[in-house]
Amino acid sequence: MRNDLEIRPVTPHLGAEVTGIRLADASDAEIAAVKTAFAAHGVLFFPEQRLSPDKLVAVTRRFGDVLRVPYVKGMESHPDVIAVLKEADERRISTFGGTWHSDFSFLPEPPDATLLQAAELPPVGGDTIWADQYLAYESLSAGLQRLLDPLLAVHTGWPHGTMGPGPDAAVSRSIKMVRNDPSADREVLHPVVRRHPVTGRKALFVNPVYTQRFADMSVAESKPLLDFLHAHCTRPEFQCRLRWQDGMMVMWDNRSTLHLAINDYDGHRRLLYRTTVAGAVPARA
Ligand code: SIN
Repeated sequence: MRNDLEIRPVTPHLGAEVTGIRLADASDAEIAAVKTAFAAHGVLFFPEQRLSPDKLVAVTRRFGDVLRVPYVKGMESHPDVIAVLKEADERRISTFGGTWHSDFSFLPEPPDATLLQAAELPPVGGDTIWADQYLAYESLSAGLQRLLDPLLAVHTGWPHGTMGPGPDAAVSRSIKMVRNDPSADREVLHPVVRRHPVTGRKALFVNPVYTQRFADMSVAESKPLLDFLHAHCTRPEFQCRLRWQDGMMVMWDNRSTLHLAINDYDGHRRLLYRTTVAGAVPARA
């Protein structure tokens, strides 16, 4: 390994910037160091990478199997890569990832990690924010932790299912999302508190996009506690925020973080390339 790999935390708990590495031709020792930093910080910012879709897929493979995600069409030329795009003329519409979520948490084996490479950025705006779900869990009272530890929650791919917003919903036309697919209505149970397979730490695992209710409870019964958790999970002190720079690549852990793309850049084009690292059935706390 070269000696110039530097890892600088961006907050005390979540996120670090990694410099002194070219991911496209990183050695095994450098990738091992990145994996250690990933476990410690949950979100890693890599400036100056400029990975093409091909290279992004190759880098993703160094961290696990590449997942071809359902319900969102990949690029024609690279089916494992999603072009996260909002065009300059797409105003006053929602965009991909604009509500707090963990990627595809409705899958029986939700993805471990996501990689996102900046390709074209607005002059200002279009930041991404993450929230640390270890800290969200650890800052709850012991009583609420004990109540949540054994619970399961129902997740569905609601935006893509038959109960979703429908094919004409005002979301960016530049993201090719599948709507009205009955398979996305499938209810998948996940622990509300999951144990991270690498760090062994407990993290909250609910989000306002895909979590419908607690198992064996109605939506109405679940709502007060879920509303509390959704607000709690994203408190500012659990967050880190990235102001994207040209060439930046980011990798985040979907097992221990939530994230949100800020949709504040109407009138400008924003394009990023995204890949997904496959995951496993979440372990109970
Ligand atoms: C996403 O949720 O993957 C999108 C993140 C972003 O565009 O910043």
